Amino acid sequence: RKQMNIAIDGPAGAGKSTVAKMVAEKLSFIYIDTGAMYRALTYEVLNRKMDVNNEAEVMGVLNNTKIQLLINKGSQSILLNGEDVSEEIRSTLVTNNVSYVAKHLEVRKEMVKRQQQLADEGGTVMDGRDIGTMVLPNAELKIFLTASVDERARRRHEEYLSKGQPSDLEKLKTEISRRDKIDSEREIAPLRKAEDAIEINSTSMTIEDVVQIILSLVEERR
Ligand code: C5P
Repeated sequence: RKQMNIAIDGPAGAGKSTVAKMVAEKLSFIYIDTGAMYRALTYEVLNRKMDVNNEAEVMGVLNNTKIQLLINKGSQSILLNGEDVSEEIRSTLVTNNVSYVAKHLEVRKEMVKRQQQLADEGGTVMDGRDIGTMVLPNAELKIFLTASVDERARRRHEEYLSKGQPSDLEKLKTEISRRDKIDSEREIAPLRKAEDAIEINSTSMTIEDVVQIILSLVEERR
């Protein structure tokens, strides 16, 4: 393999995707947003009025759904059966249901298989919850990115407001905490730091600081 893979895990809203995108851009690597895959599936499950808690129903949808990550010049879109659902998968409804969809063993097996194929050639920055522990246990660099719940909620809040979208800080805090709880307490591949991952607590750091730290870790490993 020519290039390394970089795994970035952590709780919701820690800045993983922003950081991963910037690191990928700097290194000319491919950014792979695994959360978007679970979100796209959740979107389709809800669309078809299926039950997110019913593994067989969710698997039925997954087996009949083509999920593609499309990369074009820095920006990324997610296609569901050819349709661009990049905006739709960020809705509150999808966000509040995705952790139920992501609990199922068969769902995770299939997603992990697809994600491993995407990283097969190396040269990827992949973010999620179980990348360092399950998807890419041999990744050359593993980062566990955290920040306090208050800070993560505050960042999300700012993000929504800057886009002119309505936002309720207290509600965001509750939703983020609830999602973290489900993700870290689930039976299969719960959110946790891989033993060999490097933890970065970004609570009082800028995005640029985090990116710089990761880039210097990459240099050390090259
Ligand atoms: O990263 P993002 O917040 O978009 O992820 C949405 C949800 O997808 C997470 O809360 C989690 O339930 C699930 N997920 C997962 N494993 C991953 C990526 C995401 O279980 N590797």
